[in-house]
Amino acid sequence: MRAAIVLAAGKGTRLKSRIPKVLHPVAGQPMVQTAVERARQAGLDAVVVVVGHGAEAVQATVEAVFPNVCRFALQTEQRGTGHAARIGLQALPPQTEGRVLILSADAPLLRQQTVDRLVNGGTTVRFLTAEVPEPRGYGRVVRDADGRVQRIVEEKDATEGERAIREVNAGTYWVDLGFLREAVAGLETDNAQGELYLTDVVETAARRGEAEALRVDDPTEIRGVNDRTELAEAERIVYSREVRRHQVQGVTVNDPASVRIDPGVIIGPDTVIEPRVTIRGASTLGAGCRVDVGSVLEDAEIEDGVTIHPYTVVEGATLRTGSVAGPFARLRPGTVLQPEARVGNFVELKKTTLGPGAKANHLSYLGDAQVGRGANIGAGTITCNYDGFGKYPTRIGDGAFVGSNATLVAPLDIGTGAYVAAGSALTDPVPDDGLAFGRARQTVKPERARAVREAAQKRAQRGKD
Ligand code: UD1
Ligand code: CA
Repeated sequence: MRAAIVLAAGKGTRLKSRIPKVLHPVAGQPMVQTAVERARQAGLDAVVVVVGHGAEAVQATVEAVFPNVCRFALQTEQRGTGHAARIGLQALPPQTEGRVLILSADAPLLRQQTVDRLVNGGTTVRFLTAEVPEPRGYGRVVRDADGRVQRIVEEKDATEGERAIREVNAGTYWVDLGFLREAVAGLETDNAQGELYLTDVVETAARRGEAEALRVDDPTEIRGVNDRTELAEAERIVYSREVRRHQVQGVTVNDPASVRIDPGVIIGPDTVIEPRVTIRGASTLGAGCRVDVGSVLEDAEIEDGVTIHPYTVVEGATLRTGSVAGPFARLRPGTVLQPEARVGNFVELKKTTLGPGAKANHLSYLGDAQVGRGANIGAGTITCNYDGFGKYPTRIGDGAFVGSNATLVAPLDIGTGAYVAAGSALTDPVPDDGLAFGRARQTVKPERARAVREAAQKRAQRGKD
């Protein structure tokens, strides 16, 4: 059985947060989740997560995403990465053999392919490095005159000369298990931070000529997140990678810097994503769609040829082929737009299905409603689906026509082909092809306006005298 240890006990002091560092999301995903995912995807079946700061919350998050996959080791005092590795080793399943992968939970930009490469063979200690333009804050990789790795020196312990080294340690190691057990047992705190440094095991292996640095080409991969600036930079990097990935697959993204698409989102070719669009969660979009400026999609299922006009919010809703939403529409969870259905401006739908070709084009709220094929919902129509205690359904048949500003008090059935007069407040069912009026009858008094006006003028005149 192959195993990994994820170091996730640190406080993340520099984030100045009440939330443990490793639970901060980068592009929608808590950093610890990314680390566990990398290990799992690399084929390591046993994963130990070392928790400490905010242990319960970290453990709960990991359990929620990967139920019954990880073991948790509690590091009650954060005495350094070497100490964390020691604690993690104790929790490895006894069947663990060969080597162990150690990942920092605060390095969410590592690519899967890089981790896959790292765990493929190698000498006693194999670890990731990169040549970065700005090495500040990282451990520097010290090599001898022949370029062989000698050790890693932390910034706080480095000489001025060592600080100039731009090859830095990513904090990701693939280590022989027997060696590691021995090496971490021998760690000492004789350094500037008084901690047990996991990095010191590199020197131990290097003395036997058994340390190897695997250098990645892209320096962004190894970035750690220690403060809010680095958190924002990490997000920007993930989002720009995602945009690039979609562009390669035939998606038009007009203003990449302003677009945020979470990893895992699927988008078909020839779909156009306009500026300032955010697509989150497990959203999928088909081919030939258009998502216009400022729209936000979360867990949305969008089929082919769908048009989403500007500033539309879609959450947990399904938009089938050729349907149209917005501008300024809100589609809430459980909503389905059947093919060619249309939802216009300032319309809110919750757990509502609009049948094929049905329309709700202006200023409506439809909740818990089933609207039939080709039905028309007039401007300002509202389903009263809630009586303060329970929620009730509204059914509107195929081809029905609901006039403007209707108030539909649920539960309510409106039959196929029925008409509802504008301004009606309905509480009773309308049969197929029925016409329902639910409003006061209009009365007209000829010439009466003149009399009313004259009386008003007299009143006003008396007031002035
Ligand atoms: C570490 C490395 C440094 C490397 C950098 C890459 C050491 C001594 N230094 O420094 O060489 O360039 O990562 O980002 O390893 N953690 C625990 N328990 C602890 C301390 C830390 O679980 O007692 C965890 C943290 O939650 C974090 C990871 O280990 O996920 C790294 O710790 P951090 O304190 O951020 O190390 P750096 O100073 O960044
Ligand atoms: Ca760090």
